Amino acid sequence: MQEKLQALKEEALVAIEACATDAEIQDCRVKYLGKKGAITAQMKMMKDVPKEDRRAVGQLINELKNTVGKAVEDKQASLASGKFDAIADEEWIDISLPGIVPERGHLHPIFSMQRELEEIFTSMGFDIMDGPEVETEHNNFEALNIPADHPARDMQDTFWTEDGNLLRTHTSPIQIRGMQDKKPPLRMVGPGRVFRYEATDASHENTFWQMEGLMVDKDISVANLIHFMKSLLTQIFKREMKIRLRPGFFPFVEPGFELDIECQICKGKGCSVCKRTGWVELLPCGLVHPNVLSMSGIDPDEYSGFAFGLGLSRLVMMRYGIDDIRHFLSGDLRFVRQFNQ
Ligand code: FA5
Repeated sequence: MQEKLQALKEEALVAIEACATDAEIQDCRVKYLGKKGAITAQMKMMKDVPKEDRRAVGQLINELKNTVGKAVEDKQASLASGKFDAIADEEWIDISLPGIVPERGHLHPIFSMQRELEEIFTSMGFDIMDGPEVETEHNNFEALNIPADHPARDMQDTFWTEDGNLLRTHTSPIQIRGMQDKKPPLRMVGPGRVFRYEATDASHENTFWQMEGLMVDKDISVANLIHFMKSLLTQIFKREMKIRLRPGFFPFVEPGFELDIECQICKGKGCSVCKRTGWVELLPCGLVHPNVLSMSGIDPDEYSGFAFGLGLSRLVMMRYGIDDIRHFLSGDLRFVRQFNQ
């Protein structure tokens, strides 16, 4: 019996040593230690061993089982580490080489301008408000004193959704939302993207950005409005700007003004951006119409206010001397990359 077990041990150890793959070592393990394996068979035969020899034989079989089991484990470990050595040989990398630096994105010039303005307004105590791009007809027109049959609607045609809403044509609905949400005194600005059915040219897009501003308090006058607009432009351009104030009609303000700045592309000489006038319409504004205040639940006898609708896309054009508004949404990265500050 002893010799038989010794021979089995030698056979198993030789076979294990010869294994070169995971599959081979697995087969070996099953062959000797599996349920129907050669060593397991010896254990089953213990019942036939004479009683007086059973202890010694049992010990030998256990030893055999442990030795073969350990040899299988060692072989498995050495095959695994061999695999890693092979990977290290074949797939080594030079960690001293410089890495590939991923390209970092940056803000579009319209958004960096928007952020800059938000900082200026926040420092003057204004809240930043938001509104949806798909607006109700009421907020976009009616609440702004532009009823369904008003000719001012013709200037601002847009897409309508089947449920009667529309892509907002200006950021003025944000001031309506502001007046409905907050009680006066209030100061807010509302930046955003707006949409119009528009024949495009160097200064007109069908999709552009505006920033609405609103201040409602007691005794707000045109003098406050003009002073505020001038100091805002000085902060934006870091110098005093040449401006032109003209009467302008917007049904939601009374009186209303067009505030133009000298065209920064041609410095007032006349070009395609300013339509040869030397001036660019930038900041229409006025005192909030009493009807608009009342419709938003504010007593026009107690409060007054001013509102403005800054043409944000045009402002960015003036700031950087961009001679065509269509560059903004062209998707041309060569244009956008110039603003990677
Ligand atoms: C309005 O949209 C009014 N809601 C502004 C307003 C608010 C007036 C509050 C009074 C009180 P207007 O249609 O003029 O007004 O547009 C405002 C500004 O947006 C213009 O001065 C111009 O700078 C810019 N703008 C208008 N149409 C376009 C366009 N198609 N492409 C690019 N910018 C435009």
